[in-house]
Amino acid sequence: MSRSAHPAGPRHADVLPEGHYFAPPADLNALDPKVWAHTVSRTDDGVVSVGGVEVTTLAEEFGTPAYFLDEADFRARARAWRTAFGHDADVFYAGKAFLSRAVVRWLHEEGLNLDVCSGGELATALSAGMPADRIAFHGNNKSAEEITTAVEVGVGRIVLDSFQEIVRVAHIARSLGKRQRVQIRVTVGVEAHTHEFIATAHEDQKFGIALADGQAAEAVRRALSLDGLELVGIHSHIGSQIFDMAGFEVAARRVVSLLAAVRDEHGVELPEIDLGGGLGIAYTSDDDPREPHEIAKALSEIVTRECEAAKLRTPRISVEPGRAIVGPTAFTLYEVGTIKSLDGLRTYVSVDGGMSDNIRTALYDAEYSVALVSRTSEAEPMLVRVVGKHCESGDIVVKDAFLPSDLAPGDLIAVPATGAYCRSMASNYNHALRPPVVAVSEGAARVIVRRETEEDLLRLDVG
Ligand code: LLP
Repeated sequence: MSRSAHPAGPRHADVLPEGHYFAPPADLNALDPKVWAHTVSRTDDGVVSVGGVEVTTLAEEFGTPAYFLDEADFRARARAWRTAFGHDADVFYAGKAFLSRAVVRWLHEEGLNLDVCSGGELATALSAGMPADRIAFHGNNKSAEEITTAVEVGVGRIVLDSFQEIVRVAHIARSLGKRQRVQIRVTVGVEAHTHEFIATAHEDQKFGIALADGQAAEAVRRALSLDGLELVGIHSHIGSQIFDMAGFEVAARRVVSLLAAVRDEHGVELPEIDLGGGLGIAYTSDDDPREPHEIAKALSEIVTRECEAAKLRTPRISVEPGRAIVGPTAFTLYEVGTIKSLDGLRTYVSVDGGMSDNIRTALYDAEYSVALVSRTSEAEPMLVRVVGKHCESGDIVVKDAFLPSDLAPGDLIAVPATGAYCRSMASNYNHALRPPVVAVSEGAARVIVRRETEEDLLRLDVG
């Protein structure tokens, strides 16, 4: 769908933000491969399929709403990142985007490492057999219990986020008779061009230790002085859903200059830098994400160049993509329940899920695409708002999109690119039951996270 000015304007153009006229796509039945998982296509009978299984069959077997994940696509994207970064670099999949035991196994098999940010994610990773030394532990306020477990099991690195944590991790490691490999997370002072809530490298926010005022250099001094810690590198994560490589380049440059300062002051060349995750994906046809090999090339060139200039050995680079791997591999399947046409205003299409399975539209004003997937239609495009079933008017799934005007209750519609930060941020608001995640591959579908039941809800309610 084009967000550019459109002379004819759509129906209900008057309610769109000023200057925004969406042009309906040339063919409402077409599925843009940019936003849909690799194996998604329309079969001859007009029904959309993924991994060789039609959505009508999936809906019958697993119900709606549900997330369907293209396993082959997930593996291919994970492998593309791994291959692009080669043997001199490490790819840590960011589990916060979506984590389950099946995902951990796929990552392990494809040679990726894992970034976890809570005891829950760590437990999931370990229970599915991810070797502890391939796990990085993140977070701005890890509990003593989480740190103790991480050190005990021997995670590959803990990323230190504050002065208190430097002392806390050193103390816990010492008391366990261990020396923990750590990195220090710094804020490099870059304004990432993304939503305020997911930008993380400007100075006024809760993550990391600032480079600018010498705090990061002080953190290095302290970490090097504590014998429970083995300081192996510096970490930077500038934000999420970013398309422009410029921010990463500035971050890389500033991190390398800290490495040079550390070498000058302490005579130590830290062997690792981590440039975080944050690479954007296509939610609509207007988004143009970078390929992993372009990203790998840009990052390794800048780090190599800066290190040569500073006469440093090039450190081992790592990155932490989450969304860029899992985001495009899944879609959410909904059934249309009601359609309300408010004359001269807007048409609301209500589905059987909503902000409990996708909070991103409400929280970040995120844009999504949507398509009728249980059949084709030659009807005129109709501009709609896809909303959920929650008791809240902000319960919007897709703000503005075109669907065929013969859309009817019972039709199945799907929202692509919901693999990241949808199931992982799902809630039980209104006591909604969180939908299942179903992996589809080579004509077979299997539940990897099952649908919640009312018994699940009541089990927690012990009052
Ligand atoms: N590394 C660190 C230290 C992070 O904090 C994050 C994301 C990542 C890697 C992975 O970023 P990704 O490649 O997935 O963009 N809930 C928000 C995104 C929050 C991201 C938090 N940190 C959303 O739905 O857009």
